Amino acid sequence: DDASTKQPRPPVVTIMGHVDHGKTSLLDALRKSKVVTGEAGGITQHIGAYQVDQDGQKITFIDTPGHAAFSQMRARGAKSTDIVILVVAADDGVMPQTKEAIAHAKASDAPIIIAINKMDKPEADPNRVRTELLSDELVVESMGGDVIDVEVSAKTGQGLDKLLEMILLQAEVLELQANPDRTAEGIVIEAQLDRGRGPVATVLVQKGTLKPGDIVVAGSEWGRVRAMLDENGKQVKEAGPAKPVEVLGFQGTPEAGDMVAVVENEARAREITDYRQRQVREKASVVASG
Ligand code: GTP
Ligand code: NA
Ligand code: MG
Repeated sequence: DDASTKQPRPPVVTIMGHVDHGKTSLLDALRKSKVVTGEAGGITQHIGAYQVDQDGQKITFIDTPGHAAFSQMRARGAKSTDIVILVVAADDGVMPQTKEAIAHAKASDAPIIIAINKMDKPEADPNRVRTELLSDELVVESMGGDVIDVEVSAKTGQGLDKLLEMILLQAEVLELQANPDRTAEGIVIEAQLDRGRGPVATVLVQKGTLKPGDIVVAGSEWGRVRAMLDENGKQVKEAGPAKPVEVLGFQGTPEAGDMVAVVENEARAREITDYRQRQVREKASVVASG
């Protein structure tokens, strides 16, 4: 892209950490709503993507599951992110999925902000968390390092403003930019086949602006965008850089992690996806006969 056509864009922030350390609760509290109440205390089964508005500054959040089985999703989450919020429960400390999340974040080169959560609990021990993080070479500022940590409670709201402030500060340093005036590109955050609506893909737009009517290719699937919905189920007419939207109109269900691109017409979309489907089949037959 020509640098002059780039404009500032919101940061994409992925929330990671061990199971039940409060990732979804924290995101809920940051959104100041209870849209995902069905999930509070339960198991996050998929990646959710939401955009919040903090005094006119937008932040895109991606929620990830902490369960051992979801390593792939954490890897994808880390890859599509600018900043990782590592949630560590102050009463539980660094646990296996905390360490795994750190590894994904480091592999993706995304800066890490530590959110020491559940500070309202009497057994909370934030210094123990800080000490445990040393074994993964995360040294917080109070211990002479440069990793930012914030003590928070999703329950009481403690530290949430500070956390948002730290995210925006970190985003400023990264000077995030993208060109909104070009054909859209992005990544599939999650996708499923919905009984009533057909294939539904949550797409994080990374460049350009996605619009209804666009012909999109994602992995070996394509479609014409029939409608786009934001995280509140409200229809949107366009989605620019760092905007997550549910896209309706795919012919088949793409896979999480698939790259999304807008192409000029249906013929081109079919050509690309036919080729990719053939490759997938050939690979499968090699594996079967190998
Ligand atoms: P997974 O998505 O399953 O990995 O869990 P999660 O990290 O999203 O945790 P979740 O938000 O589901 O919270 C787990 C439990 O911890 C729930 O019972 C929450 O109510 C509780 N919890 C979360 N944050 C806090 C907090 O700050 N203080 C207290 N006391 N409890 C909390
Ligand atoms: Na949970
Ligand atoms: Mg969760």
